[in-house]
Amino acid sequence: MKKILVIHGPNLNLLGEREPGIYGDRSIDALNSSLIDLARELGVECEIFHSNHEGAIIDKLHSARKTHCGVVINAGAYTHYSYAIRDAIAAIKIPCIEVHISNVFARDEFRSTSVIAPVCLGSISGLGFQSYYLALRALAETE
Ligand code: DQA
Repeated sequence: MKKILVIHGPNLNLLGEREPGIYGDRSIDALNSSLIDLARELGVECEIFHSNHEGAIIDKLHSARKTHCGVVINAGAYTHYSYAIRDAIAAIKIPCIEVHISNVFARDEFRSTSVIAPVCLGSISGLGFQSYYLALRALAETE
């Protein structure tokens, strides 16, 4: 069975409490259980990992190269400046899809830059939890 890794980066553990006008009022647990349900429906295995720490995210990306066939990553604010996460994604060679709950192009200027986008298979932004669901579906259906 295909194994897909979902990575939640910094501050996403506070979903539901954090700026609900932007990120909604549903928790990370609600997001995770809907991802597990969707994975089951798609016939894939979904592992979910959260960290607020750049190095931990990099370590997880490295280990995924041997165990998973793709990664859905919401790198949070690291998206906008972490060359280290970008290099890790480029290094592992399995497809990664960048996701964002909010529309990063409609917010602060600094959020319009993604340093990870050029090394990702694709990017999905602004669709709420659907951003994750679409990315999971795309990886599940990628040969
Ligand atoms: C985010 C957008 C980022 O700019 C922000 O730093 C986040 C969440 C999103 O999902 O909309 O932490 O990645």
